[in-house]
Amino acid sequence: MQSNPTFSMRRYLGNKWRLQGFLWDSLVDYGIEVDGVHTVADLFFGTGIVMHMFCQRFPNLKVAICNDCEPYTQTIMRGRLCHNDRDLDSGKLSKRLDKYSREAKDMVDNDKSYNGGYITHHMSKVDPIRKSRMFTCRNAKILDALFEHIIPKTDHVAKLSAMEAMLRTSNGMGNFQSAMHNNRVRKTDIPLQLPVPRGISGNIRTVFHCQLAEKLIRNLPNNIDVLYIDPPYNTKAKYYAFYEAFNRVLGGEKQKNIDDDKHSFLHKSTVEDTMCSMLCELKPKCKYVAISYPMEGGNMSIPKLVDILTSECKYSNVKVYTAAIPKYRQEMNLIREALVLASTR
Ligand SMILES: C[S@@+](CC[C@H](N)C(=O)[O-])C[C@H]1O[C@@H](n2cnc3c(N)ncnc32)[C@H](O)[C@@H]1O
Repeated sequence: MQSNPTFSMRRYLGNKWRLQGFLWDSLVDYGIEVDGVHTVADLFFGTGIVMHMFCQRFPNLKVAICNDCEPYTQTIMRGRLCHNDRDLDSGKLSKRLDKYSREAKDMVDNDKSYNGGYITHHMSKVDPIRKSRMFTCRNAKILDALFEHIIPKTDHVAKLSAMEAMLRTSNGMGNFQSAMHNNRVRKTDIPLQLPVPRGISGNIRTVFHCQLAEKLIRNLPNNIDVLYIDPPYNTKAKYYAFYEAFNRVLGGEKQKNIDDDKHSFLHKSTVEDTMCSMLCELKPKCKYVAISYPMEGGNMSIPKLVDILTSECKYSNVKVYTAAIPKYRQEMNLIREALVLASTR
């Protein structure tokens, strides 16, 4: 069996890094025949940590279908899933990343006319009330140099590495939003390095989409073995500063009018109907669905989700697995997460 993905994006709010073991053990316990899984889909890709794990752990996987409505996730999809470890093993990738980081630092330290770009202008200013900022000026400029000048547009692996560097050097416990509420002003730079992402085996075919999941379903094939869903669960999860920044630095356009549609998952009044029609429509397309959802704090309760699967969409063998994890690394409060599994046969 392959090892876990080493590339974490742990500071991305809502990522499933710490739940990988739980998710995998639940699938196995449920009885999914791991050797017989050829096609998987993840409709809310985010950092892609779950799809990356699927690609590494299902031994006979042939097709990985990925979707997220945010344009920047296209870079994560391609960076994570479109390269294999040949580059890395030969040392080519780390040499390339070292070269990019040397060139960016050189530009910032030696070209006095270089004023940085989006990150410098929007994220390295000290907030006058909280006396806090997300990035020191030098790190912000290095990141801008990398994204805007040094890394070629098509080098998705390097861009993914720079995204991880951006997360690691941001002044915030869990996400960019919390950085703005952090009372400390970081005076010294966190050393900025470009970490080396691991790839996946070269013979998995990857298919990428950037759409609202509820609209994508009719275009999905009918032979998906495992379909994973990890939707946003309430309006309080503030991903927005983060989305905006990545969309901007990666050159993606924010999709027009998408916010209104996204409300279907973010509001109590619409989430149950959206889930219900989505799960009923997905039924002829897959063998198993696996749904991540929090036990508390979501717009829909777990018993309601079970009811939708069982009574309204007529899935069979619906089972709820639960895990308790700390929200952030050093936090004592645990959040309880569910993985709801159901079969269509
Ligand atoms: C909870 S996060 C997924 C986290 C992911 N499983 C991980 O481990 O990184 C939800 C994701 O769904 C995306 N999203 C929100 N509404 C969506 C929709 N209606 N259709 C597709 N993607 C959506 C967001 O951009 C976000 O990346």
